[in-house]
Amino acid sequence: MSRTLLIVKPDATKRNLIGHIVSRLEKARFKIVEMKMLKLKKSQAREFYAVHQGKHFLDSLVKFMCSGTIVPMALEKENAVKDLRALIGATDPSKADCGTIRFEIARDIEKNSVHASDSDANAKSEISFFFDN
Ligand code: CDP
Ligand code: MG
Repeated sequence: MSRTLLIVKPDATKRNLIGHIVSRLEKARFKIVEMKMLKLKKSQAREFYAVHQGKHFLDSLVKFMCSGTIVPMALEKENAVKDLRALIGATDPSKADCGTIRFEIARDIEKNSVHASDSDANAKSEISFFFDN
């Protein structure tokens, strides 16, 4: 078993899609082991997205991620990181495969409804960013 972090982003919480996303995750055999709702401060969003320092989209991304409620959750499954990336689809929803969460509900390349960790090492640090143990 391994763990990964998913965040329901503000565009999705605003459209009342938390339950829809949770249902997609559970149907795909992910076990939700931690979950909470919160609003990020700008300094926290900048820290979370530190890997994107210097990228042209960072300021707008930080503003977006602080624009509403988010729902981070730690998920458990075999091959959790890889399987969750496959389930959410490409960053740009116009390039996401049919059937993926982003294909189905994302608005655009920024407001793409969900975050998912991209490696086991990042999953570990991203989970500890939001949760104690
Ligand atoms: O989320 P993912 O790992 O698929 O993409 P990323 O390259 O790690 O980028 C993080 C987030 O920045 C994306 O999910 C988008 O919300 C945003 N982004 C953007 O607004 N414009 C881009 N050209 C690339 C990413
Ligand atoms: Mg990423």
